[in-house]
Amino acid sequence: MSKFITETVTYVHHWNDSLFTIKTTRGDSLRFRNGEFAMIGIMVDGRPLARAYSIASPNWAEELEFFSIKVPDGPLTSRLQHIKVGDELLISKKPTGTLVLDDLLPGKHLYMLATGTGLAPFLSLCRDPEVYERFEKVILVHGVRHVDDLAYRDFFENELPNDEIFGEWVREKFIYYPTVTRDEFHNTGRVTDLMKSGKLFEDIGLPPMNKDDDRVMICGSMAMNADTAAILDGFGLTVSPRMGEPADYVVERAFVG
Ligand code: A2P
Repeated sequence: MSKFITETVTYVHHWNDSLFTIKTTRGDSLRFRNGEFAMIGIMVDGRPLARAYSIASPNWAEELEFFSIKVPDGPLTSRLQHIKVGDELLISKKPTGTLVLDDLLPGKHLYMLATGTGLAPFLSLCRDPEVYERFEKVILVHGVRHVDDLAYRDFFENELPNDEIFGEWVREKFIYYPTVTRDEFHNTGRVTDLMKSGKLFEDIGLPPMNKDDDRVMICGSMAMNADTAAILDGFGLTVSPRMGEPADYVVERAFVG
């Protein structure tokens, strides 16, 4: 039996030359927790070619959404970037992953720290009611190279705060903090440097990160994940060692590069 279900592409949006979003239909069979990833792909030479992608849509939504980079010469993304409405997308049947609320201990503030397409799981989680029930403040930091890499900026700045279901929670609790490293912008510098210097906490008006109050989810490149985890360790936070063992922070280990 195949590991994959087949869904139909309903929407494709290219944010710039290197980033795009795909939406698909969602059959009844796929169940997941917000923040999890699936393998997605296409048939190439009669065989599935698939990679791990966080599911960017919340688990109550009728469609599935994925946010992708175009890796130059990448075996999958060099093909996937040409996908069109009506095409088929393979999606693995059993999503999994470490960026889940179940693996965080209770706390006051939830930090979601993302670089690049590491934003994707947080697009799902920021539309999970449990996030707002469990935390007083929810801070999404999105670090990118260039201003035009800030995909979903309008969603966070305008759509989500006015959402019928989430708007009130978002206006009260949600802080969107985009930061850019290679253009001028109102926030600049790497997520890691902004935490080390304390500038992030000054800018958002919250105390420096500490074990009593703060819980964190990290999703970026391998280097970003490792550097950010080291900083959190230095702040005295403890990582969830494996799925099902809650702690102060979780890191997505599924992606490489
Ligand atoms: P920088 O421009 O200084 O490399 P990428 O597209 O390479 O994944 O980078 C996305 C964003 O993440 C960029 O702003 C980049 O900053 C930043 N970044 C890259 N490596 C790290 C790291 N080890 N820790 C924190 N931020 C990083």
